[in-house]
Amino acid sequence: MAILNLEIAGSPVLKKKCEPIKKIDARLRHLLDDMAETMYKYNGIGIAAPQIGKNICAVVIDVGDGKIELINPVIKSREGSEIDSEGCLSVPEIFGDVERAAKITCEYTTRYGKRRTMEAEHLLARCIQHECDHLNGVLFIDIAKNLRRETDDDDAK
Ligand code: NI
Repeated sequence: MAILNLEIAGSPVLKKKCEPIKKIDARLRHLLDDMAETMYKYNGIGIAAPQIGKNICAVVIDVGDGKIELINPVIKSREGSEIDSEGCLSVPEIFGDVERAAKITCEYTTRYGKRRTMEAEHLLARCIQHECDHLNGVLFIDIAKNLRRETDDDDAK
């Protein structure tokens, strides 16, 4: 496995819409492993492929309950609304308040090509929405309120 270079806000790759993944193979699984290693190394709770320079629809998340990999994720339903603080590995030391759905249903493909559906609430739902935004070229700073610089707060996504 390898620690990958993180793309930082200002990099064009973070503003592009990602391509759906068509081929699910060992090479993709290797990339997912590297994304996870990179996320853990930098103490993130989520990472999307554009953050490591790839314009493809792949996400890795771990909000503390184990690793989740989402290939070609699609949020199918959203319920409720919550405002909470967010950060991002691609926007170091900046935090802001983002309104997100409190509960979502997400369809995705596993690393072995199975299409699945999951429900998520609160922090996990927030993280999935943040990562899906990355796949659409949206950063949390594009939609956050009360942006602030903090060096020791929250979990970066
Ligand atoms: Ni992020």
